[in-house]
Amino acid sequence: MFGRTILVLLLLWTQDAVRSLRLVELRVPTHEPEGGMALLGCQYDLEGDTLYSVKWYKDGREFYRFVPKNDPPVYYFQTPGVNVEIGRSSNTVVALVNLTQESAGHYRCEVSGEAPSFATVYRQKYINIHLLPKGGPRVIGLKEQYNLDDLVVANCTLPPSRPKAHLKWLVNDKPAPSSYILGPWYRVSAERPDAAETFLQLSFFATTSDFVNGAIKLKCQATIAPLYQRETESTHYISLPFSMAAHPPEAKEIRDIASSVENTLATIIVPIMMLILM
Ligand SMILES: *[C@@H]1O[C@H](CO)[C@@H](O)[C@H](O)[C@H]1NC(C)=O
Ligand SMILES: *[C@@H]1O[C@H](CO)[C@@H](O)[C@H](O)[C@H]1NC(C)=O
Repeated sequence: MFGRTILVLLLLWTQDAVRSLRLVELRVPTHEPEGGMALLGCQYDLEGDTLYSVKWYKDGREFYRFVPKNDPPVYYFQTPGVNVEIGRSSNTVVALVNLTQESAGHYRCEVSGEAPSFATVYRQKYINIHLLPKGGPRVIGLKEQYNLDDLVVANCTLPPSRPKAHLKWLVNDKPAPSSYILGPWYRVSAERPDAAETFLQLSFFATTSDFVNGAIKLKCQATIAPLYQRETESTHYISLPFSMAAHPPEAKEIRDIASSVENTLATIIVPIMMLILM
């Protein structure tokens, strides 16, 4: 009996809490590229309350304030890495432009109701800022053609990025065996000491098992999850000693062409001979 009363009271209290100011959704990207922009969204439901303010904080420091009673309602504070585009910002959205590494951090939206409740709700999320490489992976050292047992050696390099990129070699669309791979190595960028170039070397001896029908497809893939993925692909050939070139495709083609030439000649010669005979 007593337990049931508590339960009823608890339900009434919870329903009351649900009916007050509520932060519905904080929509903040998890990753953005340097130089880009980010829209931070904060959806709230006043549930009958009157809005006093919407405030935005980065790492605990206020940078934007919307107070409907003020004129103008928007106020922002200069904060390193936080460049607010006022024209695109409102009570529910803040537009950040010219993102830099300093822009990374915890972003918090805090919504407050008017007197007498002064209810305040907030939520926060982290934004990572990535420096994406200027360009895709570059492959150096490959030759167009190899002889059997030649060393196939190449380096795949990616311009500076932050965080470091993940490079991967693919042989005929399958990940290269680990015995073919050396590295990765990283080289800190001269202009950007916080960023690094990435290198990954591929090396193996040319055998017929890697060269399917005399050709091999090599691909270097660069990934910086979740914003960036690019790849470079090339095809290379193997020249085999004559004894190993079983059923060379050229021979068949030549035979086909030769027989079709014979046929054509026959169709021309026969009518000519018939003409002479007549
Ligand atoms: C962003 O950068 C551009 C170009 O440097 C500049 O014109 C603009 O004022 C910047 N915007 C903000 C809000 O800082
Ligand atoms: C590949 O890059 C590494 C690291 O910079 C270097 O030591 C190696 O000599 C390079 N190899 C080729 C084939 O370019």
